[in-house]
Amino acid sequence: MISKRLEDAINAQINAEMWSAYLYLSMSAYCQDKGLAGMANWFAIQFKEEQDHAQIFYNYLISRGGRVLLKAIDAVETEWASPLAAFEHTYKHEQHVTSLINNLMQIAVDEKDFAAQSRLQWFIDEQVEEEENAVDIINKLKMLDGNSYGLYVLDQELAARVYATPSPLAAKA
Ligand code: FEO
Repeated sequence: MISKRLEDAINAQINAEMWSAYLYLSMSAYCQDKGLAGMANWFAIQFKEEQDHAQIFYNYLISRGGRVLLKAIDAVETEWASPLAAFEHTYKHEQHVTSLINNLMQIAVDEKDFAAQSRLQWFIDEQVEEEENAVDIINKLKMLDGNSYGLYVLDQELAARVYATPSPLAAKA
């Protein structure tokens, strides 16, 4: 059985992950509107991954005897100054999510909940990748410095991103 404190924190995290999904779907719509279908694809996959993160926490709470309580999802931004601004927002947001995950881990450590620590370790590793992916694209966008052909090539590269079911959900399938 999971503690009430951790149960509440995981329910808040489910909402945060769903909000992240909504944010990236909005960024996908923004890129699509700018004719950047590859970037729209990248954000659409990010949208799916965030829903997966919410689902992993959802499943985990149930498996520990907790009660899932879904809350309203706040509105997200719909416009960015440029694709670079959208990816910089992505990086800033992922840094925020990392702090939320670290906070969850701190609660699990304080409560000596070793099972929760095991699940949260997956998210800690995932956040390293999330931040790295955003930084990689930001660096490329800065390198091409508004060059249209460079933007076209990067968009093609991001069009190749494919969705993969994360291991905690694949194990359940
Ligand atoms: Fe659910 Fe992008 O972290």
